[in-house]
Amino acid sequence: MIKWEQRFSVENVQIDGEHKHLIELLNIVHDLSIRAEDGEDIYDEMEVAIEGLRDYTVEHFRNEEEIFDRTDYMDKDVHKFQHKLFIKKIESIDLQKADNMQGEFLKKLTKELIDWVINHVLIVDKGYVDYINK
Ligand SMILES: [Fe+2]
Repeated sequence: MIKWEQRFSVENVQIDGEHKHLIELLNIVHDLSIRAEDGEDIYDEMEVAIEGLRDYTVEHFRNEEEIFDRTDYMDKDVHKFQHKLFIKKIESIDLQKADNMQGEFLKKLTKELIDWVINHVLIVDKGYVDYINK
């Protein structure tokens, strides 16, 4: 479970809002993983949640790239590559693999996704703050 914090801010209302929504979607995945750990079968719900997360992430990255593409921000290509890798990561999630280890698998998966997003926002996204706010 993560909560948006002021330190995540990129000083842009639109992107901050999108990051908040992304966090909400990650928390849905997180909640499902906890229910899976409690032995509940959440396979179908998880499939929908991951799909929703993927679709929204694609949309968010597109919006973010559109905003920094208009600026002199120098790390555009590296940044876009990071985005691509994350989409690939989401797309490669194989829920079938979870099997009867569903809880454990999903817990690890959720942690990876959340860690990636926090890291990305705090380190990579912070790189364009000065450019988009010029
Ligand atoms: Fe980004």
